Amino acid sequence: MPLLRLSLVLLLLSPALCAQVAKPTLHEATLHEALLAAHADRAGDPGVATAFRHLAKTYGTPLYIYDQAHIRGQVDALHAAFAPRFSKLRILYAIKANTNPVVISLLKAKGLGAEVVSRGEIETALRVGYAGPEIMFTSSSKNPGEIQRAIELGAVLNVDSLDELGQVQAEARRQKKQARISFRINPGVDPHTIHQINTGIAESKFGLHLQDGIAFKAYEKAKGMPEIRIEGAHCHIGSQITETDGYVLTARKMLGLVKDLKEKLNIKLAFLDLGGGLGIPYEDGQTLMSPEDLAKALEPVWKEGVAAAGYEPTLWLEPGRFFVGGSGYLLTRVNTVKQTPLKTFVNVDAGFNTLMRPAMYKAYHRVRVIGKTKDPQLVDIAGDVCETGDILAEARMLPRAEAGDLVVILDAGAYGFSMASEYNARPMPAEVMVDGNKARVIRRRGTYPELFRNTERATPTKH
Ligand SMILES: Cc1ncc(COP(=O)(O)O)c(C=O)c1O
Repeated sequence: MPLLRLSLVLLLLSPALCAQVAKPTLHEATLHEALLAAHADRAGDPGVATAFRHLAKTYGTPLYIYDQAHIRGQVDALHAAFAPRFSKLRILYAIKANTNPVVISLLKAKGLGAEVVSRGEIETALRVGYAGPEIMFTSSSKNPGEIQRAIELGAVLNVDSLDELGQVQAEARRQKKQARISFRINPGVDPHTIHQINTGIAESKFGLHLQDGIAFKAYEKAKGMPEIRIEGAHCHIGSQITETDGYVLTARKMLGLVKDLKEKLNIKLAFLDLGGGLGIPYEDGQTLMSPEDLAKALEPVWKEGVAAAGYEPTLWLEPGRFFVGGSGYLLTRVNTVKQTPLKTFVNVDAGFNTLMRPAMYKAYHRVRVIGKTKDPQLVDIAGDVCETGDILAEARMLPRAEAGDLVVILDAGAYGFSMASEYNARPMPAEVMVDGNKARVIRRRGTYPELFRNTERATPTKH
């Protein structure tokens, strides 16, 4: 791409400054600046539009775009908040949020471990260079092949039931190895998030409940198994959590377990994993806990808990969304605009096959129309999938868009591509990584022949 020169980036980067002075129009922007400008509701500016049009023309639509600087900045922010307060700290990346190997490599290069939920994610982690022992394998149940592979590699298996503990023991015995385990604990805490991503409440399918001593008894049982090496305790109470309270209560309960295990069973854990779940702002003006807020809130509870237990396990955290969510942009093109008696639909060339979250969770994503500022209209952004529920954004006041215009959906970096499918026989979108003013394809667009890649060649039938 011809170098689109930087201008006025300081104004974009400084909200305080922006609030005081009127924002001049951006006539030029690097790709990175254009992405930031879309967040700052400047997608109508000519320089921003040029950058997005360039991306659409070069790589096609629908297109996932990730901003490398954002991902790195998020890791730094989490580290800066926690490292000074927790001397024994390990941060992992929950790779399910975005499984692109380049994204994972970026996080690995920042020193993060890998938290995975399937054999496929184990293989992905290995492919980007993780060693088996650096991998934590969590899943509410695991098939025999997954258990076998995890033990062979020396990964930590996060055991979710007594049934699974027996299976891990049997496989470890077969391999004549010791399996490294932690237990996923259900602490019975409601972090007040969307129901489908609320995982730590009593009725959830995840983990061994703290309630009725169930988790404690699991440790007691595992302690008597020579094939099992107990390394830690784990919990993950949900996703897109915006307040500190749920974490604080969870930490208190989990540290209570740490103390009990030491006092009553003489089990000392190497780590206590408080999971991921840190929320990101999906709406303009949304305020939510910062990593600093969370670290500050956890610090006294942690200190008190480890003092009571008489030793300090390493604190593990394993966010996904927090690192990658805000880095992602889904760029789409308007196919048609349709007025019905009730609504105006802006029909775009992406759907819930591309970005599942709005249809699955009623999740809110900000939408910007590229290069347009005038004549705001109340519209629904509708996908191109043949399903009534395929609405990407509902009832938004947006500048008037017409066929051929570009629309960008913000904060699509987590659970975007990783949940995408070829439903309606649409090939997978491409993914590009932006670094300053450079973009590179990190996953090429799917093709039509790929839609048939695993099928038998059908012979045309005659009637
Ligand atoms: C066990 C576990 N850890 C971590 C995560 C990451 O969650 P988030 O992306 O909200 O940080 C998930 C997400 O579902 C999870 O199930």
